[in-house]
Amino acid sequence: MAKEDYQSLYERSIEDPEGFWASLAENELEWFQKWDKVFEWNYPYHKWFLRGKLNITHNCLDRHVAAGRGDTLAFIHVDENYKETTITYGELLRQVNKLSNGLASLGVKKGDCVVLYMPLMIEQVVAMLACARIGAIHSVIFAGFSDKAVRNRIIDLQAKVVITADWTLRRGEKKRLKPTVDEAIDGLDFVKHVIVLVRDGERHDSTEREVDYYELVSEQEDIFAPEVMDSEDPLFVLYTSGSTGKPKGIVHTTGGYSLYAHYTSKAVFNLKPGDVYWCTADPGWITGHSYVVYGPLSVGATSVLVEGVPDYPSKDRWWKIVDKYKVKVFYTSPTAIRMLRKFGEEHLEKHNLSSLRILGSVGEPISAEVWNWFYKYVGRERCVVVDTWWQTETGGHMIVSLPALPQKPGKAGLPFFGIDVDIVDKDGQSVPDNTKGLLVIKKPWPGAMRTVWGDNARFEKYWSETKGVYTAGDMAIRDEDGYIQILGRSDDLINSSGHRIGTAEVESALNSHHSVAESAVIGKPDEIRGEVIKAFILLHTGRVHDEILIEDIKFHVRREIGAHAIPVEIEFIDKLPKTRSGKIMRRVLRAKEMGQDLGDLTTLED
Ligand code: WTA
Repeated sequence: MAKEDYQSLYERSIEDPEGFWASLAENELEWFQKWDKVFEWNYPYHKWFLRGKLNITHNCLDRHVAAGRGDTLAFIHVDENYKETTITYGELLRQVNKLSNGLASLGVKKGDCVVLYMPLMIEQVVAMLACARIGAIHSVIFAGFSDKAVRNRIIDLQAKVVITADWTLRRGEKKRLKPTVDEAIDGLDFVKHVIVLVRDGERHDSTEREVDYYELVSEQEDIFAPEVMDSEDPLFVLYTSGSTGKPKGIVHTTGGYSLYAHYTSKAVFNLKPGDVYWCTADPGWITGHSYVVYGPLSVGATSVLVEGVPDYPSKDRWWKIVDKYKVKVFYTSPTAIRMLRKFGEEHLEKHNLSSLRILGSVGEPISAEVWNWFYKYVGRERCVVVDTWWQTETGGHMIVSLPALPQKPGKAGLPFFGIDVDIVDKDGQSVPDNTKGLLVIKKPWPGAMRTVWGDNARFEKYWSETKGVYTAGDMAIRDEDGYIQILGRSDDLINSSGHRIGTAEVESALNSHHSVAESAVIGKPDEIRGEVIKAFILLHTGRVHDEILIEDIKFHVRREIGAHAIPVEIEFIDKLPKTRSGKIMRRVLRAKEMGQDLGDLTTLED
């Protein structure tokens, strides 16, 4: 696609978004019943494909089987010992149907919430799809979250069923998951069943509340008619960190999300049925939802699913996998690329990576330097690097470097079709080219979040922070060619190893430690992880800060949130910089940490 073609299609999509999306919805998806209205905008609430009926699993599974692609591989799962498990589209459909029947036999119905706390494995995908097939709302929690974090989400959702597995593998060790779920649901009577998947093929002793996964599915029929879902019926809730308060449950609905995950996978990654594709994300994050599960399945690709970490059992593990399965499209994060770069090029050189065509990046800005390394050593100067800026809230890619367009290392690229982007100052006025500003989206798009679970006010905030538009919370700059560079968050969110962590969340975990009086948390630049968490802590009088206390505080954060939120550095101080109204000035701590000018201190308390 030449830049002019992009430009004309883009302009058309912005001038007539309804026509643009409706024609795609018609051509790209199968509906049980067509919508009667494309879009309704009751600011800030919006609906797409009103009264249209569909089920996302029909588009991800049944239609491929009906088209004769039942024998195409849907997933190739590789565990830490390179043990491979594969599943075809036909078999995946049967497994999903069996679990759908199993869930139905437990009384799960349309609109019920089901929490998944599982490792990266085929059954994790089966569980998501089975929920979607029966119309239950799934909420996948990344298997690194602590029991308290899991419990809070289960309570927020009033989840009826939890699906878990007994362990996941990490660096050769089995990390148990079931005890976390036991703690999480202790005393919660509204949780009617816990489905436990025992991975060594053994059985779990079923009780009334605990059900063995294989026992549940083994006797079930492998046919299940997908629930007829309305376009606007919720498909899933995925929790993500905000700059204030507890994590928010981002709600995505069926019709718009189906189309958005499908069409971005197709247009941005050029994915076609049977293409071998590998997205390194876990389905516990949004990237996994849209670009491991729903998008690639909807287009009919063959996905590689890799459990474990990039450098175990060896530092060339990822390249070995790319070579072995002839991966064509490879989608990962800058933090992973920086780590692999540090290991050295020798790990890449011994592998044939000639199957690769498109290299994707997501999660944080990819610097020109890291971009160039990715292009040169992984892509061998033959592949395009596709950066993709988006968020849990956006459902799918928003600013991208489409494969056919000229590349600009270090810039995320151009707005995706139908996405009306602007960069504005704090009063909402557009800023000139090459000027820093806030990234906003001017109109809703089909994949956008519909609300925050149980908290409409928090949803409305996204659309009211800057008048009339969606404020993403990122700073950006646009050049004279329209290319957008993402500069990082404008709020108190930390991006560590591509994980989004709220400073307020970590502070509240720290403050609940019995020795801590007050705390402030900042993101500190880190060569590999992008940012690491640094905590400034004020202890209660009389507490001694020694190594034991530091370890204990870190352990406490692990218990409260999960290992990814542990501060790497802890500094004890006597006083936190605050405004006269008592707000902690993290900006001052950050500037001091970096040895920078402290900026305007007129609002500082003293
Ligand atoms: C950041 C992940 C620069 C950004 C899909 C955003 C990026 C937040 C990029 C959302 C990118 C994501 N370039 N920054 N390509 N992709 N981000 O919800 O700050 O986990 O607001 O979604 O990650 O993180 P989330």
